[in-house]
Amino acid sequence: MSAPARTVIPPMATQALPLLGHTLPMWRDPMPFLLEQHALAPVVRLRLGPKLVHLVTRPGPVRQVLVTEQHRFDKGGPFVDAARTLIGDGLGTCSAEDHRYQRPLMNEAFRRPCIDSYTTAMVECAEDMVASWQPGQIVDVCREMRRLACRALTRTLFSDPAQARLTLEIEEAYTVLMPGMWWQMVIPVGLVHKAPLPANRRFARARVTARSLIGRMVAAYRARGAGLGDGLSLIMSARDERGRGFTDDEVCDQIATLMIGGIPATADLLAWFFCVLSQDGTVEKELHGEADAVLGGRAPAHDDVSRLPRLGRALTETLRLYPSVSVLSRKVTRPVRLDGAALSPGDEVMFSPYCLHRDADVFPDPERFCPDRWLPGQVHQEQREAFIPFGSGTRKCIGDTYGMTEATLAAAVVMSRVRLAKVPGTPDAAPLLRMTLSPVPLKLTVEPRGIRDQGHQEAADGTTALRCPVHPAAD
Ligand code: HEM
Repeated sequence: MSAPARTVIPPMATQALPLLGHTLPMWRDPMPFLLEQHALAPVVRLRLGPKLVHLVTRPGPVRQVLVTEQHRFDKGGPFVDAARTLIGDGLGTCSAEDHRYQRPLMNEAFRRPCIDSYTTAMVECAEDMVASWQPGQIVDVCREMRRLACRALTRTLFSDPAQARLTLEIEEAYTVLMPGMWWQMVIPVGLVHKAPLPANRRFARARVTARSLIGRMVAAYRARGAGLGDGLSLIMSARDERGRGFTDDEVCDQIATLMIGGIPATADLLAWFFCVLSQDGTVEKELHGEADAVLGGRAPAHDDVSRLPRLGRALTETLRLYPSVSVLSRKVTRPVRLDGAALSPGDEVMFSPYCLHRDADVFPDPERFCPDRWLPGQVHQEQREAFIPFGSGTRKCIGDTYGMTEATLAAAVVMSRVRLAKVPGTPDAAPLLRMTLSPVPLKLTVEPRGIRDQGHQEAADGTTALRCPVHPAAD
């Protein structure tokens, strides 16, 4: 008879403060704090205010949570409960039981052919963004990418030309709503959110506005009847094997979920990509070369995504070093052991793709940006399992292909037209964890392409003359 497995009491995380526990380091600078805990043990206990949370730090037990023993866990934990009160019970926050019904219906809008049909709008949005930039302009890259991701998502969800005005209003409402979401999620004190502060009032107004605008859009689509093949039509017409579909209210929850789940994550992937590129001239040159060779200056289309393998590897490596969703959590629903730690129903676990992706035992030289580590034949099973920028198991991101397609096309459009260059003397961007992990501050200069490659032309007054292929008139 084998001996019963030994139960381990996980060590308490470092940097605890009386009463506050680990709340302060988690808010102030969470990524270095979490990395420090990863060095301690496979499971580490953290105190976040009154809550005890188990931080899982090794790929094996994280895989147990997400895949092999996912039936012992449900959505929950520090951020998910707060998100549920803000965006309802859509796909990202619903219970495992509701998820079994919701996910197949939502999959209808994320099949490969649907995503291919969304790419024209994605490319147009990226072209418009680049066309709005002037040569020499310094752009706030996070803000630009957020606008782009928001515009692309609203255009692919709502393509009805009769609702163009409403689409724009939804886009604006989410621009206001998004920054406030994080504070509502991380400050665990309901009373603070109810206080009559201007920020709370603004947030509450934006939430009501966004919800009512989406409600109007759903009603307009319902009245129209015939589907348009866009995201909203596909979600509204999806039926399960018993003929059940979403109610209009449920459709609104799903749209809010896609906006909150999709926009910042895709925007931050693109922001980090341009951040890294502005610091790595060699990779930048290779990627510009690939974009020029494949596209020759024309706009990309969906079948170009697979023709840009270097770009695909660079985006993958960006997600390894800077996964937009850097901290995830779950609630235990059935007793489970994680590396000897016995967890009971109601316990909460947390894990960080950011830290897992920097484990030197799995990814050699983990701090180095090295797209070639993703060359075919180079990636081994352990790396595949530890690489979880989109999560894993049944709750894996529904927008993974959508997000990667959009990021590839947008990056290709930008790189074909311009170079986003570091402003001399500015500090390097650092990771800031809000809803997602953003590079802050990230201001880059728009340099029309061709200048650096062809050699800078000195103007008569000694300044560099910029020739912009998209804005010849601006030169
Ligand atoms: C690069 C871009 C993206 C990244 C890095 C990302 C990351 C993630 C991660 C890590 C999860 C799993 C969360 C968990 O296990 O708790 C997730 C779930 C989800 N994501 Fe994404 N995401 C991205 C793009 C998108 C897009 C474009 C959309 C929608 C248009 C989207 C919608 C969702 C939804 C609805 C879920 C919940 C899925 C479910 O529970 O079935 N995401 N995402």
